[in-house]
Amino acid sequence: MPRVQRPEPTVASYPRLLSAVRVHDAAVGDAPPMHGAIQRTLGRLDGRTSLAELGRAEPALSSEEVEGLIQSLDQAGLVDDDAEVNYRTGYDVILELEEIVEEHCESTIYRNPFWQTCLAARQIGDLSEKLALGMIIENWHFLFRESYFDAPVLSYVPNTAVRLLLNQFFSEEYGHDEILLKALNFAGLSREDMRDAIPLPETMGLCNALAHWAHSDPLFFFATLGLLEGQGTEHDSFITACERSDLPLGLVGPLKAHANINLNAAHGNLTRAIFSEIPVLDVATVARLKRQLRLFVELYDDFYTGVWRYYTSAAPLLRRVSLL
Ligand SMILES: [Fe+2]
Ligand SMILES: [Fe+2]
Repeated sequence: MPRVQRPEPTVASYPRLLSAVRVHDAAVGDAPPMHGAIQRTLGRLDGRTSLAELGRAEPALSSEEVEGLIQSLDQAGLVDDDAEVNYRTGYDVILELEEIVEEHCESTIYRNPFWQTCLAARQIGDLSEKLALGMIIENWHFLFRESYFDAPVLSYVPNTAVRLLLNQFFSEEYGHDEILLKALNFAGLSREDMRDAIPLPETMGLCNALAHWAHSDPLFFFATLGLLEGQGTEHDSFITACERSDLPLGLVGPLKAHANINLNAAHGNLTRAIFSEIPVLDVATVARLKRQLRLFVELYDDFYTGVWRYYTSAAPLLRRVSLL
């Protein structure tokens, strides 16, 4: 394994002294010129004077000595850096994140056998009723657990406008499992059946990952909502495939009702609305958000693959707790 080189310790480029300087006569004695230079340099640590200017102002001190002084103060927690933070607006960032998500989708979700089947469906039988029902079952499991991952951000303290958007979103989302339950009822699955059913590991994996991000990195969780809420067109592709395969209205109707709620409440734009309320994001935060996008898209891709794998197999429709 190649050795990782440690980065050189950085020196504050516009150091600002965090405490007042008090000079005791007793300390100034044996080397007055040096002490005078240090004392004057300490007086210049105002956050507006650059490291180079500090060096030029005191010829008695070498640039290494000035840097060494700043570093010692830094290690003691006595200076911070007043250099301008490199930042971007939230709206600018989300547009780039959306592009990255789209790129990742191109090589994953859009090539997924489930979506390929939906996109290729033209006539009766192209999308089997079992596969469509499986998608509704797993979607129900997901929506039934939506509070796992929405709840942690409802109390989002750093930004009031964002918190209000999330609370409004949750109030609109709450109970959407009940809409899909109507389709499941039509297919002969009762509420009790569904409570007895175990989600696929890929479905639960997605729920757990989102709950983890909502708890530990709310900003990243916000970035996932666009794709989850159908910022692309793939949700419609599923409904179109159901219709082209002539699946009964009892199944397709509730799906359409749910899709229309998303559309009318502009849930696909929620992520943009949230990031528009975030004035600035520093570059380190943006890098962190970008880093996790691939993993999220892969988990979502796995969800569809799981649906495809299980519901095209001969396995029973429900994995029942009562049969364990
Ligand atoms: Fe929903
Ligand atoms: Fe929604």
